Amino acid sequence: MPNIPIFKAHQVFYDMRIFILLIGWSLFISSCNSVQNEQQEELDLAILPLTQNLEYLEERYELPQRFKLYAKKELQPSLELLSDYLKDLGLEPELQNERPETALVILELNPEISDNPEAYELWIKDGKIRLVGATAQGLGWAIQSLRQLLLQQEMPYRLRGMEIKDAPKFAWRGLLLDCSRHFMEKDFVKRYIDLLALHKMNRLHWHLTEDQGWRIEIKQYPKLTEVGAWRDDGNGGKYGGFYTQEEIKEVVAYAEKRGVLVVPEIELPGHAQAALAAYPQHSCTGGPFEVETEWGVFKEIYCAGDDSTFIFLENILTEVLALFPSPYIHIGGDEVPKYRWENCPKCQNRIKTEGLQDEHELQSYFIQRIGDFLASKNRKLIGWDEILEGGLAEGAIVQSWRGFDGAKAAIKEGHPAIVSPTSHAYFDYGLNDIDLEKVYSFNPIPEGSSSEEAALVLGGECNMWSERAPQDKVDSKVFPRILAMAELLWSGPKKRSFSDFKTGVQTHYAILDKLEVNYGLETVPVTVKTALKEGQLFVHLLSADSNQTTFYRVNNSGKVRYSNPFKIDSSANLSIEFERKGKKYEEKVEQKIQAHLANGIRPKLSYEYHQNYSAGGPEGLTDGKLGSSNFKDGNWQGCWGDDMEVLVDLGESKTINYLESGFLQYNNAWIFFPQKVEYWGSEDGKNYEPLGVVKNQSNPKEKKQFRQAFQLELKSQKFRYIKMKAYTLGICPEWHDAAGSKAWLFMDELIII
Ligand code: ACM
Ligand code: ZN
Repeated sequence: MPNIPIFKAHQVFYDMRIFILLIGWSLFISSCNSVQNEQQEELDLAILPLTQNLEYLEERYELPQRFKLYAKKELQPSLELLSDYLKDLGLEPELQNERPETALVILELNPEISDNPEAYELWIKDGKIRLVGATAQGLGWAIQSLRQLLLQQEMPYRLRGMEIKDAPKFAWRGLLLDCSRHFMEKDFVKRYIDLLALHKMNRLHWHLTEDQGWRIEIKQYPKLTEVGAWRDDGNGGKYGGFYTQEEIKEVVAYAEKRGVLVVPEIELPGHAQAALAAYPQHSCTGGPFEVETEWGVFKEIYCAGDDSTFIFLENILTEVLALFPSPYIHIGGDEVPKYRWENCPKCQNRIKTEGLQDEHELQSYFIQRIGDFLASKNRKLIGWDEILEGGLAEGAIVQSWRGFDGAKAAIKEGHPAIVSPTSHAYFDYGLNDIDLEKVYSFNPIPEGSSSEEAALVLGGECNMWSERAPQDKVDSKVFPRILAMAELLWSGPKKRSFSDFKTGVQTHYAILDKLEVNYGLETVPVTVKTALKEGQLFVHLLSADSNQTTFYRVNNSGKVRYSNPFKIDSSANLSIEFERKGKKYEEKVEQKIQAHLANGIRPKLSYEYHQNYSAGGPEGLTDGKLGSSNFKDGNWQGCWGDDMEVLVDLGESKTINYLESGFLQYNNAWIFFPQKVEYWGSEDGKNYEPLGVVKNQSNPKEKKQFRQAFQLELKSQKFRYIKMKAYTLGICPEWHDAAGSKAWLFMDELIII
């Protein structure tokens, strides 16, 4: 310990000011004994992710406005980073590279503290704040811990004495930002890098190329951005954008200063339509192509038979490598339809001359050839788990996204794995699929792994795909879920109970508020239920969160605070909004409700619906809740390959004027409208009278997701029983990417009026 006065609150309070004057420095001002207990509560500040070891000491301090910050010259970037953060907090640090004994805050390296290069210690003790990193990167995490302690408060900042010893469990703690489907501005990306660093996340996986947009300037191929960065916006204009090489350098340097490695992803051989729109000569057919405007998987991929493709890609990668010092380069490799290769003489010739079995081995050849190029430049290849198919070059890293199977297979074969399964890590998914608790339950190590295999799991990533999340929606998708990911990757899975973690998150919101992060909700905010009461349809808005206030509008009328179930007389468009502790949330729930004669009646079904798309069971078809364009909204009942026959017994003969069945089409997800819907009526449940046939009016090729009402007007006819049959298309048609696979029917309601 250097020779400095020790300021303990209970020892020095009374003569504090005199003492400071006497010695001529203003380290800490100890707090008053009489408020100590109160402050103790107040100073139980949360660091998130949870530290591995934190011990509180008796000491209490108040940070003066001006003080000195010391680090050796070689740690100047860390010193400046901390200084910038402190200035943002209204403090006035003075930097120095000499005379540590005169400084209040000391930054230093000590490789002895741990073998883990990211380890750090933070001491608030004996009148000093000491930040120690095993390396500069560890030191960066000490800075972020201190920053979090201060960000939770307003001036004057108070600190409790403490000793922290901390290090991450996993080395790879990442976020994928898809800046291709929607372009995100450079400053937005930088803001995310800083938010990652604040939570000790150390990888930005920058998804820069896609079917819908090429986002990185490549000087040798200017059309990649002149053409490939822009797509039709549907209104006669263009949508897009790209990063110049200068901007990329700026982002990479900004990240480096914060201990975040930027790993670029250049997709190949698939998800390449934007590049092929610019340079169609590298496709199998020669094009021409447009930059894609729909979401999905597309068959235009790079030609594997033509050497000029590899020259093109290697030239691109050469420029990429010059911009990104990352030892790892992500080359995608996912979702590669083989249709073009199957029909391309050059690709077929390659299969023959290389002695390959089929197009899967051709994919493997493609990836290996690129992998060899990267290896020759001392870089490691990362690819999505499809790169395992057909064999994988040594040292390649597999990013497992289709569950854990890719990770399991990779580590079994001795390949390192990054684990980001759709089940836990896809932050483009809604809260009904992945809520905060679900993320917190994630363990990147596949079940049953040996210790050698587990050691190959580098860590995990949250994947922020942006099809449905332009820049202004990203905060509410990423936060607060990334807090769970950050903690389980840093502190270890289930380091504490979910309930304790959630308590920490509540404190942490103060930090997010200060940084203007427009975080979303932790879980599904409301379950919309309907129930019949005295023949009337009532809507219940159920929420599990007692801190949440729920508001609703009916058909764009005024906003009402929900307290009790409310009645729907005929049809209603509900718009539901949420507030929590004074914060208004982005998330809105839209729900259409239709009151009708079959509400509350359990119909008889002739088919089996899929467990994942049950609509809550047979009653889901008469509960009055109509489906949205999202097939996963809980209102749709899905049947795979079969016709759907639904029978409703109204209990007594009723006058009927109108019948409607609602179906969804989303051909990308193999969901098609029925070819036709037939209706019958009966009084006795034995003899059925045909009422009419409603044919499908839409084109199965129509790309968008939409509902169609199969409607039939009746002339005040009386029936007790109504039967409906929807005839499936059976299989996906010839022209479809999944031609021959069973087609889905998705139905939301049988409406009887
Ligand atoms: C992926 O989600 N296609 C990696
Ligand atoms: Zn080809």
